[in-house]
Amino acid sequence: MAVTIKSEREINLMRKAGEILARTHEELGAAIKPGMSTMDIDRLGEKIIRGFGCIPSFKNYNGYPASICVSVNDEVVHGIPNKKRILREGDMVSLDAGVIYQGYHSDAARTYGVGEISKEAQKLIEVTRQSFFEGIKFAKAGNHLNDISTAIQAYAESFGYGVVRDLVGHGIGTHLHEDPEVPNFAQKRKGIRLEPGMTLAIEPMINMGRPDVVWLDDDWTVVTEDSSLSAHYENTVLITEGEPEILSLRL
Ligand code: MF3
Ligand code: CO
Repeated sequence: MAVTIKSEREINLMRKAGEILARTHEELGAAIKPGMSTMDIDRLGEKIIRGFGCIPSFKNYNGYPASICVSVNDEVVHGIPNKKRILREGDMVSLDAGVIYQGYHSDAARTYGVGEISKEAQKLIEVTRQSFFEGIKFAKAGNHLNDISTAIQAYAESFGYGVVRDLVGHGIGTHLHEDPEVPNFAQKRKGIRLEPGMTLAIEPMINMGRPDVVWLDDDWTVVTEDSSLSAHYENTVLITEGEPEILSLRL
């Protein structure tokens, strides 16, 4: 599939989808507290998304059974909500959500501490978030995809963290996953040339330890091989003539 350039009409729909997703994350982030189950987060997230008149895009996507991916501690991504999995003070939790508004997708993830968390865990969350912002400094027309990937990796690795290799970001639009793939680590090829109207889901997944991950027997949950903590931060980003526009974040 070719990389698509969105029209002004499509961009406006993606802006709306992104704004709704940003609000969804704001509400979910404010709701996180010890004693909640990961299923509680999924139920609340689905209710918020449907309340905005959107469809939760992850539900039934390739058989994924929930609306929100809820990944705790050493879980990197795609944790399956479970009513028996209770969040405890000191846990880290990554929430990944997607919405469809009038046929257009937005995809974003945030990682939160549950109550008080260790300084080390807080640092991992902050560096993961910042690695996204280091990457999008290069998300400009005329640059190449690999400029973004290289910047994310360099920043995260400067703290000694492991950048996950087995999962990548992606183009997004009328589908959740479109071309191109957006790796969070340097490639040998410079990748496509960025052009105004491209929309990318840029999503660093950063481990406190080694980059290696394994899949659990549920076929979804991805965990760090060395059991170290992992964080995830993602936004849907529009390439413009100037600075990139972060569609799924309200500043
Ligand atoms: N943000 C994830 C991604 O970009 C969400 C997909 S999870 C799934 O791939 F459940 F929808 F598969
Ligand atoms: Co994504």
